[in-house]
Amino acid sequence: MAKAGGLPKPRTPRPNHIINIIYNIYKRSEEGGLRAGKSTLSDVGKPLLAVLCGERRDPPPMWMMRQAGRYLPEYRELRAQKGGFLDLVYDSDAAAEITLQPLKRFPDLDAAILFSDILIVPFAIGQNLTFVLGEGPRLTPPLIGAGLDDLQGFSGRLDPIYETVRKVKAKLAPNKTFIGFAGSPWTVATYMVAGQGSRDQAEARTLAYDDPVKFTAIIEHIESVTIEYLSAQLEAGADAVQLFDSWAGSLSPAQFEQWVVGPTARIVGKLKARHPSVPIIGFPKGAGGKLASYARETGVDAVGIDETVDPFWANKELPPDLPVQGNLDPLALRAGGAELDRAAATILDALRGRPHIFNLGHGILQDTPIAHVERLIALVKGAR
Ligand code: CP3
Repeated sequence: MAKAGGLPKPRTPRPNHIINIIYNIYKRSEEGGLRAGKSTLSDVGKPLLAVLCGERRDPPPMWMMRQAGRYLPEYRELRAQKGGFLDLVYDSDAAAEITLQPLKRFPDLDAAILFSDILIVPFAIGQNLTFVLGEGPRLTPPLIGAGLDDLQGFSGRLDPIYETVRKVKAKLAPNKTFIGFAGSPWTVATYMVAGQGSRDQAEARTLAYDDPVKFTAIIEHIESVTIEYLSAQLEAGADAVQLFDSWAGSLSPAQFEQWVVGPTARIVGKLKARHPSVPIIGFPKGAGGKLASYARETGVDAVGIDETVDPFWANKELPPDLPVQGNLDPLALRAGGAELDRAAATILDALRGRPHIFNLGHGILQDTPIAHVERLIALVKGAR
């Protein structure tokens, strides 16, 4: 990895970023033609992929963030057999089985999402990754106090993940969409810098102010590995990819441009150059009022909205043909009952006229009753 010392100070957006933004705005201005062209390319048999390509479907296709995980007894059982979470991720047979578990239990879901984690990328480039029970992930050494010389480039440590993608692809029904993913550079950097989850991403934001050269080097390194990683997932069989930016909401507007929009626009631009027809979903959690400019400037094909966004507002403020994914409060799903029914109906009502993929506003909670998930799927799929 190059030493950080020689890099320019990231005070203004770099030319690359500006070119991507102009390209993406131009691309959106051609919306009609491009999207029409894309939908004919889209696999008509996959409703969720079709919506990502700009089609409207009633009822909307749906999946749930973290749909493979601890709320499922079959996941907990396999995990108990195999050891820890990372053992599951690196065992491609187990990971493929877990990826498919939600679809077996809930056949009306429209997508599988790769079972892995956004923190596999820091692990692949040289940080040590552990999950401490009840406390969450640990990455060592935290980059706030370490140099960058030990970081490595793109590595074979990601190969088992592509094996999982191939195994899932071989078994997935043809009408289901297969979503690959990565964390966005900003969100991944917050963990790499602090070495763990942090309350308000203070370590990463502090480093970005105190040593912008070092922080830029970290972001650019994650960015280049992420492009290769997502490309390889697509080559192995993913139909679409999602960029998880869980901490996009902790940045000031200028920092948001610099650390969220810039890197995302460059990733989208480079992935599109290699895989022009593959949809990319951006999920800048907490972006709120910056969602429209995020969509315009990054060139993502669809945006995920979290549960704090009013879906009526999103429908009004976002371009009418931009696919929107979301945004049921995971706590409403856990609560169930009339509150769940009401919340789901509001979202369906607000986003009915546009390309919409029903999802949660964030990952499903581990103590969510299965019966509530069944109820939600019935509500969404019965909605005509
Ligand atoms: O959506 C999916 O089902 C795909 C798989 C997926 C996981 N994590 C599986 C997982 C995805 C897309 C993620 C994303 C992820 N991981 C994010 C971004 C989205 C978000 O939730 O904000 C973040 C910040 C992480 C980092 C991470 N991984 C945390 C904070 C934790 C929780 C640690 C804990 O002990 O609760 C994980 C672990 C993790 N990732 C689990 C799963 C199913 C739980 C593993 C287990 O304990 O069995």
